[in-house]
Amino acid sequence: MNRLVVIIATILVPTGYSAAEVYDTTWHTIASEHCNGSRQSPINIVSASAVGNANLTDFNFTKYGDNSTMKNITNTGETVKVMLTNGVRVTGGALSEAYDSLQFHLHWGNGTSVPGSEHTVDGTRYPMELHIVNSKSSLNGNTTAAVEDGTGLAALGFFIEAMPGNATGSPPAWNTLTTYLANITLKDDIVNITHAISLDELLEGVDRTKYYRYNGSLTTPNCNEAVVWTVFKDPIKVSQDLIDLFSTTLHIDHNSTSDLMTKVFRNIKPVNGRVVTTQGSSTSALPPSGASTTNSSLGLMALAWMLLRV
Ligand SMILES: *[C@@H]1O[C@H](CO)[C@@H](O)[C@H](O)[C@H]1NC(C)=O
Ligand SMILES: *[C@@H]1O[C@H](CO)[C@@H](O)[C@H](O)[C@H]1NC(C)=O
Ligand SMILES: *[C@@H]1O[C@H](CO)[C@@H](O)[C@H](O)[C@H]1NC(C)=O
Ligand SMILES: *[C@@H]1O[C@H](CO)[C@@H](O)[C@H](O)[C@H]1NC(C)=O
Ligand SMILES: *[C@@H]1O[C@H](CO)[C@@H](O)[C@H](O)[C@H]1NC(C)=O
Ligand SMILES: *[C@@H]1O[C@H](CO)[C@@H](O)[C@H](O)[C@H]1NC(C)=O
Ligand SMILES: *[C@@H]1O[C@H](CO)[C@@H](O)[C@H](O)[C@H]1NC(C)=O
Ligand SMILES: *[C@@H]1O[C@H](CO)[C@@H](O)[C@H](O)[C@H]1NC(C)=O
Ligand SMILES: *[C@@H]1O[C@H](CO)[C@@H](O)[C@H](O)[C@H]1NC(C)=O
Ligand SMILES: *[C@@H]1O[C@H](CO)[C@@H](O)[C@H](O)[C@H]1NC(C)=O
Ligand SMILES: *[C@@H]1O[C@H](CO)[C@@H](O)[C@H](O)[C@H]1NC(C)=O
Ligand SMILES: *[C@@H]1O[C@H](CO)[C@@H](O)[C@H](O)[C@H]1NC(C)=O
Repeated sequence: MNRLVVIIATILVPTGYSAAEVYDTTWHTIASEHCNGSRQSPINIVSASAVGNANLTDFNFTKYGDNSTMKNITNTGETVKVMLTNGVRVTGGALSEAYDSLQFHLHWGNGTSVPGSEHTVDGTRYPMELHIVNSKSSLNGNTTAAVEDGTGLAALGFFIEAMPGNATGSPPAWNTLTTYLANITLKDDIVNITHAISLDELLEGVDRTKYYRYNGSLTTPNCNEAVVWTVFKDPIKVSQDLIDLFSTTLHIDHNSTSDLMTKVFRNIKPVNGRVVTTQGSSTSALPPSGASTTNSSLGLMALAWMLLRV
């Protein structure tokens, strides 16, 4: 019986059909209103085609150094999400106004061997990607209003790569955060965060003055085209053992016989003529190289339906 199931599954899932395709292949039907749109995320960022823009100033981060802003951590069945307390905020960075930082979540593949960032840079996919989801402060946390506004949300994307060498349990803030994964192995499990951890500690090593900017969408249904994306160039470095915990600890459903949560990232989407900007003199842009633009799109993974639960 089990063998028959395996054989049928093998026939139905042709070789080369990646889990990422399974992850988002039905979204255009279940949320056709937006997921088939023209400014979807994530995208492949072609670094040589990023246009210099002197307006892309530094950010100001409020309460990112505060070690008591992480409220609770949930297994949503599709990611791990950490809810933040009120008052965490980001300004500057050429955003039109202040944005409240509501939550962060992660995307990954299968340990360090199958990378699972959503955005790619020059075709390179990193092991993981962290998304901090922010909503225009003037909207007072009304996420319905935020997803109806083309710049209602601002997402901050950070790549995560494996630390070189044989380090384990590092950096300490990531070691602490990942200890909670054992408490949320099943879908809808949620626990309060009681340890002192700050966002600054999780983002350690990233020069937050260097980033790409483009207009895109949430990377999960309903894929609303409401997101100003910031993708930081420097990756966060996390030891391999901690990266591996995500794909070996968490299950996608309510019991431990369900599959482990792997390959939770959306495929890159067409750029469709969108411009990706980055710091620099506005005259320093290189002309687009001969590289195919059909393969270059920026993307951000924001979870609209999750936001609506906020
Ligand atoms: C997306 O799908 C909707 C509903 O099927 C359709 O109305 C819309 O034209 C499609 N948009 C694009 C860009 O294909
Ligand atoms: C920079 O901002 C100014 C003032 O808003 C605007 O006039 C200018 O076009 C912007 N430059 C670029 C390259 O976007
Ligand atoms: C958390 O932050 C407070 C206030 O800055 C500080 O007194 C405390 O030592 C910090 N706790 C840890 C564990 O870092
Ligand atoms: C998790 O934290 C958020 C933000 O403070 C809060 O709205 C929500 O009720 C909390 N959930 C649980 C189950 O405690
Ligand atoms: C950032 O904060 C500094 C110090 O509080 C302030 O002088 C500056 O105007 C702020 N910049 C932005 C863009 O908010
Ligand atoms: C993930 O990797 C593990 C260990 O390499 C492997 O056993 C498992 O089948 C992989 N899972 C998927 C969904 O590819
Ligand atoms: C949230 O925004 C929507 C859309 O703009 C609006 O219809 C609704 O009344 C707002 N909700 C609240 C509580 O203000
Ligand atoms: C990592 O561990 C391996 C096997 O134990 C060892 O051969 C290698 O020298 C170590 N590398 C570093 C950078 O410590
Ligand atoms: C998490 O699990 C550990 C080990 O089972 C337990 O000691 C701890 O109390 C749990 N923490 C929370 C917040 O549930
Ligand atoms: C989690 O935190 C909330 C709000 O601070 C509190 O009401 C709730 O009792 C806590 N849950 C647990 C299991 O400690
Ligand atoms: C994104 O959209 C906003 C609002 O329409 C526009 O001002 C901005 O120039 C766009 N940014 C990029 C990088 O295209
Ligand atoms: C586990 O959940 C699956 C559905 O996800 C269900 O078919 C199965 O019966 C459950 N097993 C147990 C032991 O509850």
